[in-house]
Amino acid sequence: MSDGGYSIIHWALIVSACVCTTLIISVWFHMKSSDPYDLFHLDLNKLPGQEKTRPPKTEWLNMGFWKDTQVFPEACEALARKLITAAEIKDGARILDVGHGTGESLILFLTSPSIPRPRSLTGITSLALHHQRSAARVQRLTRSSEGTAIFLYHGDAVYTSTEQQDHPLNFNGASTFDAILALDCAYHFHSRGEFLRQSFHHLTPGGRIALADICFDGEALQRPSLMRSVLKLMPKENMVSMEEYVATMERIGFTDVRLENISKYVFPGFTGFLRGRGIGWSIFCRVLDLYVARGARFVIVSGRR
Ligand SMILES: *[C@@H]1O[C@H](CO)[C@@H](O)[C@H](O)[C@H]1NC(C)=O
Repeated sequence: MSDGGYSIIHWALIVSACVCTTLIISVWFHMKSSDPYDLFHLDLNKLPGQEKTRPPKTEWLNMGFWKDTQVFPEACEALARKLITAAEIKDGARILDVGHGTGESLILFLTSPSIPRPRSLTGITSLALHHQRSAARVQRLTRSSEGTAIFLYHGDAVYTSTEQQDHPLNFNGASTFDAILALDCAYHFHSRGEFLRQSFHHLTPGGRIALADICFDGEALQRPSLMRSVLKLMPKENMVSMEEYVATMERIGFTDVRLENISKYVFPGFTGFLRGRGIGWSIFCRVLDLYVARGARFVIVSGRR
């Protein structure tokens, strides 16, 4: 067979396969994008060997830190604890937890003896269902949450309109925090930069922000990538290199900015766990693998006001 003939057929096959896959994935993400997270995570929280019909004990929703475990809820809690450590939270702190899903990180703060007990705990989540479910779950803990004032806000993390009077990051609002946490969510924000600016404004001097987040290897980001522009896992303005991330924080005024690359303890564990859980997750894993191959890095970033 001539080289030319073979490569044209080969090429055509590759191109059509790519176009098909891209279309399918784009449509899938588009359908999901208005409401990407509902309650699918409850199923992921079920422990190995647990009865299928029993509800899970935990409701974690993040990519997890899989260094010392292969169990999803344990990996998720490990990532939450890593973030709490990076924020250097002390007893009696006033905490803002952004993007808390159905409230597992709030519950961790209110119940774990090994985590400093906050004086106040404020939460923001953008999905009404998550907001209501978090409120109901936290309310059921009344005894253990005694001594902590709780305020949960339903809305986008970034304050955008004067109509959002109660928004914790309201520019005219007086609420301040000793620590602000964003556990595996800030890459979705419009935009992360604006969120960081508003957070700086609402931190007490000496207070710390900590984010478990996704950014990119600087060199990989320089290379053009069709995949990155077609499959939008995050707004374009949030696709920054690790160096740019740190520089942005320093420009806003944060000091003692630290960035830890924990990619190898996050992506392989997470996709390994999800593979074999149906077509939707397989596609998701493919996309995530492509992102990692194109330089996506999972990081813990923190800085002090
Ligand atoms: C970040 O971690 C990944 C996975 O371990 C590694 O391939 C990459 O080189 C690291 N990047 C930097 C800048 O440390």
